[in-house]
Amino acid sequence: MGDDFLEAGIDFERANAARIYDYILGGSHNFAVDREQAARTMAAYPDITRSAQANRAFLGSVVRWCLERGIDQFLDLGSGVPTVGNVHEIAHAIDPGVRIAYVDFEPVAVAHAQEITADLPSVTVTRADVRDPESVFAAPGSPACSISRGRSGCSWWRSCTS
Ligand SMILES: C[S@@+](CC[C@H](N)C(=O)[O-])C[C@H]1O[C@@H](n2cnc3c(N)ncnc32)[C@H](O)[C@@H]1O
Repeated sequence: MGDDFLEAGIDFERANAARIYDYILGGSHNFAVDREQAARTMAAYPDITRSAQANRAFLGSVVRWCLERGIDQFLDLGSGVPTVGNVHEIAHAIDPGVRIAYVDFEPVAVAHAQEITADLPSVTVTRADVRDPESVFAAPGSPACSISRGRSGCSWWRSCTS
């Protein structure tokens, strides 16, 4: 695990919702503590895996639907850990030039997202609270830098709990 994670103050001993979700989806951006919590959650709510997979399938349909209609920029609010079929994976499989701005307020989700997308110039990851839109657009690496307001785009806020 990179030094960036330690600098971001990430607690490896504490389960995190974004990483639990990643694990349930079959991703690898999670720790033992997340997998243990995921096992307890799956025991209490056996349908959670199917729910998470259905959510991802819906995401894929929406992104492809938009791309077919010429929309080539996406603002993903509450993006979590963008792995296992997330927006950039789906969009870039069709057009690597599609621009994606991920926003999340969780340092863990943001650090993972930055690591995953570090080599992708058309993707930004911003740490901000979507309840404060000004902070979203004012943050370093802001969507304002990557998303053009003069063209149509898709804004996506799903499975975001606050
Ligand atoms: C269950 S995950 C869903 C991830 C992704 N949206 C998906 O559907 O696959 C919910 C994410 O929303 C983020 N979130 C919740 N409230 C938020 C807020 N007010 N501002 C930014 N992110 C938020 C959490 O940190 C978490 O990463």
